[in-house]
Amino acid sequence: MLSNPLNLKKPESAIRLDLRSWKEVDSYLEDCKGIILPIGSTEQHGPTGAIGTDALTAHAIALEVGRRTGVLVAPVQAFGMAEHHLGFPGTMSLKPATMLALIHDLLLSLFSHGFERIFVVNGHGGNIASAKAAFAQAYGTAAQRNLPNASQLKCKLVNWFMAASVFREANNLYGDKEGQHATPSEIALTLYLEPSLCNKQRPLPEASPAGPIYGPTDFRMRYPDGRMGSDPYLAKPEHGEMLLNKAATSLSEDLINFLKT
Ligand code: NI
Repeated sequence: MLSNPLNLKKPESAIRLDLRSWKEVDSYLEDCKGIILPIGSTEQHGPTGAIGTDALTAHAIALEVGRRTGVLVAPVQAFGMAEHHLGFPGTMSLKPATMLALIHDLLLSLFSHGFERIFVVNGHGGNIASAKAAFAQAYGTAAQRNLPNASQLKCKLVNWFMAASVFREANNLYGDKEGQHATPSEIALTLYLEPSLCNKQRPLPEASPAGPIYGPTDFRMRYPDGRMGSDPYLAKPEHGEMLLNKAATSLSEDLINFLKT
C-alpha cells in the first residue's frame, strides 16, 4: 500500500496534495488509499508564542510523516475550536458545531474520491471532541448515502503532543514547567521551524497554575497572560528539532499500522 519501499524520503512537492494535479491524485489512489489531514488552531499562545503555533506544528509534523511514508498530505486546516482563547486578540475560532461540520465535509470529500484511511494529525487539544464527533457523523453519512465501500471509511485522530516519546522528552526537558498551554515543547517546535520567533523569547514571571477551562472571560481572568502553568522561555530550537523527529517517528508507525487495518 505504501509507495516508499526503500525508505527514502519523498520530496515535499511529491506528497503535498495542493501541488498535485487531479490526474496524479487519481493514479496515487490506485496504490494507496491513505491521506494525512493536519488540523491546528489560530489562537493566542502566551505573551511570546506565535498565534499560529498549533497549525505550524501540526503541518510540519504531517509533512515529515508524509516525506517518510510517501502518503499524501492535505493542506493544513489552520482554524480550530478555540472559543476559550477569544479573550486574547488575534485568536480566530470556530464554534464546536462549525468545526464538526467542516471536518465532516472534508472527510466526505476525500472519501468520495476513494480515500478510505484518513489520518488526522492534530495540534490542538480543543479540536479533539469536535474531530471525533465529525468521524462518527461521517461514518453515518457514508452509510446513509449508500456510498460505495461505505464500510471502508476509517478515520484516525493522532495528537502529536500526546505521543508517548514526545511526552517523555517534554517531561525530561521541562518537568512541571511544561504546563498545559503555550508549552515549551510546542514553542520549541515553532522556534525550529521559524527562527525569527526566537527574537520574541524572554524570561516570564511565574505562570498561573494549570487548571480548568470554561469561557473566554473566565480563561483570561484565570490565566492573564494566556499561559497555563508553562514556561515557554525554556524552549530551544534544537529541542524543537528533536521533538519533531520523535513525533514524526511515532506518527509514521501509527500511520503504517493504520493503513493495514
Ligand atoms: Ni497549542
